[in-house]
Amino acid sequence: MYYNTSDHHGLKHNPFKALIAPRPIGWVSSQNKAGELNLAPFSFFNAMSDGPPTVVMGVNGSHSEGGYKDTLENIRETGEYVVNMVTYEIRDAMNATSEMVERAVNEFELAKLTAAKSNVVSAPRVAESPVNLECTLIDIINLPSNNPEHPNTMVVGQVVGIHISDDIIKDGMIDMKKYHPLARLGYRDYTAVKDVFSLARPDQEAQDKIHK
Ligand SMILES: Cc1cc2nc3c(=O)[nH]c(=O)nc-3n(C[C@H](O)[C@H](O)[C@H](O)COP(=O)(O)O)c2cc1C
Repeated sequence: MYYNTSDHHGLKHNPFKALIAPRPIGWVSSQNKAGELNLAPFSFFNAMSDGPPTVVMGVNGSHSEGGYKDTLENIRETGEYVVNMVTYEIRDAMNATSEMVERAVNEFELAKLTAAKSNVVSAPRVAESPVNLECTLIDIINLPSNNPEHPNTMVVGQVVGIHISDDIIKDGMIDMKKYHPLARLGYRDYTAVKDVFSLARPDQEAQDKIHK
């Protein structure tokens, strides 16, 4: 099949997110200037470069009380946030923090999570997550939107500090079999990394020199 994206796809559900799958989940903790905490998951999320490490996420739609989602409002206000990586073990807590609740609600408390102090940024990190990326804002880019009441934005951040749990490090490398990163498929579906295989690039030696 083929469809122009300006037309209806003709399927039961929009397939787009199921096609770009799996997508890692950036679980973003932020706070406003008054120090009120916020936590929400974003699967329009990925790394864009690694020297320095740079990440992007798509914050789409508005808050039920008007204005942008809390995450975007807080990042705009403070220029700082933490991306906490989600694992299979903490999937339910992540899901609990996706509920569109009143602005005043602290999702750390809602999901019974521990807010640990960050090293560089003001926003706390999720202690239960084995990987926390402390980020400073580079840019907020407005994306096209089919609905003026549903703004789409891309938040670009520089990772300035990285916390890694010693539990997922083995022989100086990240052990995927212990990490179990969770990722979003389409619809209500998820996957967690369980099988890993390796492929060497044709120019592997040159690549190793660049990326060591
Ligand atoms: C797994 C998962 C992935 C999500 N990904 C996104 C996303 O990429 N962009 C987005 O705007 N909302 C996404 N959401 C919905 C937000 O988490 C939700 O709107 C949340 O209430 C926003 O909270 P905030 O207003 O505190 O920022 C996702 C929800 C789940 C469960």
